[in-house]
Amino acid sequence: MNTKPKILVVDDESRNLRLMEALLLPLGYDILLARDGVEALEKIQETPVDLILLDIMMPKMDGFEVARRLKADDDTKIIPIVMVTALQDVADRIKALESGADDFLTKPVDKIEVYARVASLLKVKAYNDHMIDYQKKLESEVAERTKELRKAFEKIKVSSLETIYRLTRASEYKDEDTGAHIQRMSNYSAVIAQAMGLNERTVESILYAAPMHDVGKIGIPDKILLKPGKLDPDEWVIMKQHTLMGGRILEGSHAGFIRLGETVAVTHHEKWDGTGYPKGLKGKNIPLVGRIVAIADVFDALTSKRPYKEPFSLEKSYEIIKEGRGTHFDPDVVDAFFASEEKLLAIKEKFRDEHESLLIRL
Ligand SMILES: [Fe+2]
Repeated sequence: MNTKPKILVVDDESRNLRLMEALLLPLGYDILLARDGVEALEKIQETPVDLILLDIMMPKMDGFEVARRLKADDDTKIIPIVMVTALQDVADRIKALESGADDFLTKPVDKIEVYARVASLLKVKAYNDHMIDYQKKLESEVAERTKELRKAFEKIKVSSLETIYRLTRASEYKDEDTGAHIQRMSNYSAVIAQAMGLNERTVESILYAAPMHDVGKIGIPDKILLKPGKLDPDEWVIMKQHTLMGGRILEGSHAGFIRLGETVAVTHHEKWDGTGYPKGLKGKNIPLVGRIVAIADVFDALTSKRPYKEPFSLEKSYEIIKEGRGTHFDPDVVDAFFASEEKLLAIKEKFRDEHESLLIRL
């Protein structure tokens, strides 16, 4: 690789070009020559240079304009420009500085002065090049590390979600519900949350929290949980405890979606009119996630087969949900439910009881 610094000399007088070339070539630089501003810009396009010695008064395009253009372009703005001029006028020097010139040489040029200016500006350019390379390297290293971190985070997230799914499935094994029920109702909950305008992060948290709604059932005796007939009042008292038991299983977590899972477990049987359990909370005193999961849970129970019932038709299920608007369910959540009908049916179709997948997707 040729690492010789490249210097572009721009002057409309051949004599000046030759003079500068004769001065600089013996120092081991690569010299490029241009006779006017337009040619200078073309040369720089073709070959990136490290320094420009630029005459001011030239035909076609003067040195001020050349400097302005080079300094306005991200690719060329770091190239140092030395204005070489016979002008002693202060106003012109100011104009040159404003155009982006980094230094001056006065014609007729002094050999030592040329050497000094060129050497020091090339040093600055080399340092800047090094810094730019270093920054690029750092940026790509940071991007690479960020990618790795994101991958590792995704892996942890997927495995912790899978753990939750497997644990909730373990608790559901005692019940008539299936793994597909968990997936349907958590996806229903997320879709309804989305229709209610909740942000993406909250929707995702609800997707992960909803499966934990019935983990407390693990604490309900089999003779009650699996009783084929209707529960008597005493048995109901125990059955209702699955909400609080779920809350106790999940309480005190540092993970946001498990804390949300705790809320879901405790509040998914509360009703809008205050007749639900375990606390008989009313209206907006019921956390929104509980109001959302309530409708998702009921809709799935209605449209699914149970040992004691065939699935209700969609029409009948919709009717029951409409009837519950303002009594069992939050009216706004019911509206969001019906606004999401298409997506809900797609989820119902995707997670049918016979095929189960541990991966859930919106
Ligand atoms: Fe429940």
